[in-house]
Order: sequence, then C-alpha cells, then structure tokens
Amino acid sequence: MAVLDILVYPDPRLKQISKPVVQFDDSLRSFVLDLEETMRAGPGGVGIAAPQVGRLERIVIVDVSAKPKIKHHGRLILINPEIISKEGSAVGREGCLSVPEYTGNVARAKFITLRALDEFGKSCEFQMERYEARAVQHEMDHLDGLLLLDRLVSRRDLFRRQTQEAAASKPKPS
Ligand code: NI
Repeated sequence: MAVLDILVYPDPRLKQISKPVVQFDDSLRSFVLDLEETMRAGPGGVGIAAPQVGRLERIVIVDVSAKPKIKHHGRLILINPEIISKEGSAVGREGCLSVPEYTGNVARAKFITLRALDEFGKSCEFQMERYEARAVQHEMDHLDGLLLLDRLVSRRDLFRRQTQEAAASKPKPS
C-alpha cells in the first residue's frame, strides 16, 4: 500500500469529469487500498475521491465511523455511485484535502438513497442521513469536477483555516 499525492486546488485535473469504472480486477482493488491509506493519512480523513489523486474514475471512499454519535455504515467503497433520491436540505461546514487552507458552508440534502458498486462489482444500496450523507455528496461532487468552493452558500461562507504557525503567534489572552 502507498500514500498517494493529493492534488490541490487549482490543479485543473480537479475540474474534470471522471469516467465510470468498467473493470473490477486486482489492480482496481489495489488502487482502492492505496486511496484508503491516503484518506486515513490526511487530516480529517472521512472521505476521498479518486480524482483527488489524479485518477479520473468514479471511485469514492467514505468512513465517518470515527465521529461520535452519528448514524453511519462504516467503511464504504463506493464505485460508480448514484444518488437515487434525496430529501431535505441543511447547511454545514466542510473541509477538503484538496482545499487545505479553507473550510466553507455548503447546503446538502439531509437524507439520500445511494446506489453503488463495491470493489468486486457487487451492487449495494444505502439509506444515509446527515453527516454521512454530506460526506458522500461532497466526495461525489469530486467525480463531476466540483469542489466545495463551487458550492458555497455565499461568498462570505468561506473561512481560512487557522494554521498552526498563525495560532502560535497569536497573542494570548491575559
Ligand atoms: Ni473534498
């Protein structure tokens, strides 16, 4: 396994539309393991999409199970995913490994029904809600060349992350 390089905005490959996976073989499964290792190595690390490492195929991994007190399906390998229904809308703060210096407020459906294939080509369906549904919608956007920067509720809904250096040089309250 290997940690792959993450493409960072404004890399033009992040704006491409990814192609469906057609071959479910060992080379796909070995790429999925590398992609997962890359996701887990990053800060936050709840989701990643193949185009973020320059592979323009419709492959997403989401695992929000480390977050306390939320409903989730554990580790999900989602290939050629499709949202077949959605309901409700909520605004929430999102971050992205490809937009490391910012977070932003984005509106997403609260509930989704998702159909996808796993890494062996088996079809699965999931009912998801809130945080997990948000993570999946964020990662699926990458497959269509969309970043959270394209989805901001407004221009004021973009926030610069506080870097460790900036935090260290900040005057302490006395
Ligand atoms: Ni992202």
